[in-house]
Amino acid sequence: MCYAIPGKVIEIDNNICKIEYFGIIKKVRNDFYDLKIGDYVYAQGGFVIQKIPKEEAIETLKVWEEFFHKLKEIDLRVTYPSKDLYKIANRIRQEYHDNSCCVHGIIEFSNYCRNNCLYCGLRRDNKKLKRYRMELDEIVNLAFYAIKKLNFKALVFQSGEDLYYDIDKLSYIVRRVMEESPCLLILSIGEREIEIFEKLYEFGARGVLLRFETSNEKIYEKMRPGHKLEDRVNLIKELKNIGYLIMTGFLIGLPGEEEGDILNNLTLTNELGAEMFSFGPFIPHPDTPLKDFSPPPMEKVLDTIAQARILYPNSKILVTTAMQTLDKKEGLKKGLLAGANSLMINLTPKEYASLYEIYPNRDGIGEDVNKKIKEIIDLLHKLGRAPADIGL
Ligand code: 5AD
Ligand code: SF4
Repeated sequence: MCYAIPGKVIEIDNNICKIEYFGIIKKVRNDFYDLKIGDYVYAQGGFVIQKIPKEEAIETLKVWEEFFHKLKEIDLRVTYPSKDLYKIANRIRQEYHDNSCCVHGIIEFSNYCRNNCLYCGLRRDNKKLKRYRMELDEIVNLAFYAIKKLNFKALVFQSGEDLYYDIDKLSYIVRRVMEESPCLLILSIGEREIEIFEKLYEFGARGVLLRFETSNEKIYEKMRPGHKLEDRVNLIKELKNIGYLIMTGFLIGLPGEEEGDILNNLTLTNELGAEMFSFGPFIPHPDTPLKDFSPPPMEKVLDTIAQARILYPNSKILVTTAMQTLDKKEGLKKGLLAGANSLMINLTPKEYASLYEIYPNRDGIGEDVNKKIKEIIDLLHKLGRAPADIGL
């Protein structure tokens, strides 16, 4: 199974190209390859990430073409059975994004964190948690497996804020992956020095996933002791200026959340120029100070997805795995039918994934990765979604 459709280069203007997929034309940025008109490429998040041999592209397109149109028909037929709000959001998603759905892989390489966020199971004061760090080559080899064998085109490298991975170690990971198996490489390593992000950009990283968590300063300072919302927001802006694609967002239902906070959160996500909105429910962790609070109802999360889609139709909206914890059976499906169009598959090896416990009962932990991929692809097909990212 492939998670991107090959596109044909039809126009080149310096590092901006136009590529065509089944008559749809998209603009993408090419930072990595020497391209000419007629070449075939894979693009993710608006970047050319791989040049592909013509014969291979034509073969893949042949398989895709009929299927692509069949899926589109299914997508137009499937609707959410409950609220009009979700139906409207879903319709807007179809108008702006067609039936394409980004499927990114995520590798959680360390659960050490120097911070003490009240909501998070990885907080440094959680002494019950067994900590792990993956070896550099273990991370790189897992990425190679994900890209070469599982066909992922976009990978998130996530950890707590773990200073063990200094600029040299992080550079090693990014350089090796991008030299041998280019992908849309997304960093989710917390608030680190800007020099680190600059260096990793040079080596080819192009995305950053960093939530601002809440736009409510009072709640922010309470939840993230010793930290200021302004610093987080400024860092995200700097990362955007470097050229990174920004994936950001917030937690829904943090204790103290006030009327209007969600709308402010959505506004801030948009103001930060997020390419992808990433927000999800707060799930209380038993070994944190917030253990006695409740998660928000699923409906609130779905409403937020729908509102985000209606307010910012161009954005990509992720169904976060925390939603699948709130509703194991249908969380993903409900999110996708309320306006979302992206998801992540956890590729962290089992022995580590169970320790990456930001919140309890994470969905899909311990399941075989091939089985997980199959289940998700089956669901996407049932909903008429093409697991592809066809550019900007
Ligand atoms: N519930 C849901 N999400 C959480 N995160 C941390 N703790 C929790 C929790 N208890 C999210 C934060 C962080 C991301 C890595 O995990 O939003 O940015
Ligand atoms: Fe660390 Fe992030 Fe968890 Fe905060 S939310 S404790 S920064 S891993």
